Amino acid sequence: MRIAVVGATGAVGRLLLAILQQRAVQADVVVPFASERSAGTVLEGYGEVQPLNDSTIEGFDLALLSAGGATSREWAPRFAQAGALVVDNSSAWRMDDEVPLIVSEVNPEAIDGATKGIIANPNCTTMVAMLPLKALHDQFELTAIVATSFQAAGGAGRSGIDELAAQVPIVGGDVDALIGDGHSAARKVKSSVHANTLAYNVVPMLGQLEANGYTDEEMKLQNESRKILALPGLQVSPTCVRVPVMVGHSIEVRASFKADLVLDRAIAALDAFPNLVVQEAPTPLEWAGRDETAVGRVRLDLDDAKSLNFFVVGDNLRKGAALNTVQITELAIARGLVG
Ligand code: A2P
Repeated sequence: MRIAVVGATGAVGRLLLAILQQRAVQADVVVPFASERSAGTVLEGYGEVQPLNDSTIEGFDLALLSAGGATSREWAPRFAQAGALVVDNSSAWRMDDEVPLIVSEVNPEAIDGATKGIIANPNCTTMVAMLPLKALHDQFELTAIVATSFQAAGGAGRSGIDELAAQVPIVGGDVDALIGDGHSAARKVKSSVHANTLAYNVVPMLGQLEANGYTDEEMKLQNESRKILALPGLQVSPTCVRVPVMVGHSIEVRASFKADLVLDRAIAALDAFPNLVVQEAPTPLEWAGRDETAVGRVRLDLDDAKSLNFFVVGDNLRKGAALNTVQITELAIARGLVG
């Protein structure tokens, strides 16, 4: 089995290489790809980073793409044409009717619809929310969610992490300004990845603003949730916020159902769901680097017997991206879709 990992020098790509090794994917050869800038760089254990061109993409059984939408739009079909099954981590193919959008614990059966030879990995925030929502939907029938995210800098890739790390000592070095003149504290640094100074701050603008006043990141939460849960009428009210956390997305969700809720049953369903852990108050820092998703603060709504509030936390680079990509790969191998 020959596997291409595209975006191998990035935050998700590096983790993809590591997780492929840790799990039981029997790869004979794993070839790293990145942009022309990195071509020729040696990645220890994998050899030289390859550029994408007609000859380098030949002869793969699997291609795992995590190099942004533009790269995926162009190269996913070309890898598929050359005979590889593609698992794509960008937003380029997620809403294509012929491309399954899979969270491995939630809708693995959708993999059989991969008629284009491309399978999509969901957005990292949507991914984390799907595990508890599916667990609860199976019990109570989900109708609507109000979701507010607290998204880590690492959701914007390595450059998002680096920008926050560089800002923290500068902005944090003047506590008096942080207390008494936040505006000048924020202006001590420039931001190019995040929409505003992220150190000691939260930024309620994440992604491109669309004509309806929501960002594309917020619309992903609506559109991808509907597709993954096969609930086209699901009402989704999303707000995406960037917070000064390196890795680990959190989402506060108010979920509404057709049936009246029973709190004990809801918690038991969450607890029994694969790779989901119930904890009183999970935090992203403590769950960074872990494969499981954690859910806590599970509370019945104060007024509506059909609504429940919870706080869910997951590692956006692992379950939110690289781990689920490898889990999809494992599903595809198990179903005989590879090779
Ligand atoms: P490179 O390191 O050569 O820029 P991150 O999400 O952490 O920013 O990583 C993005 C990944 O996608 C990197 O591996 C990057 O490679 C890769 N990448 C970016 N643009 C392209 C491109 N046009 N073709 C192939 N790989 C790309």
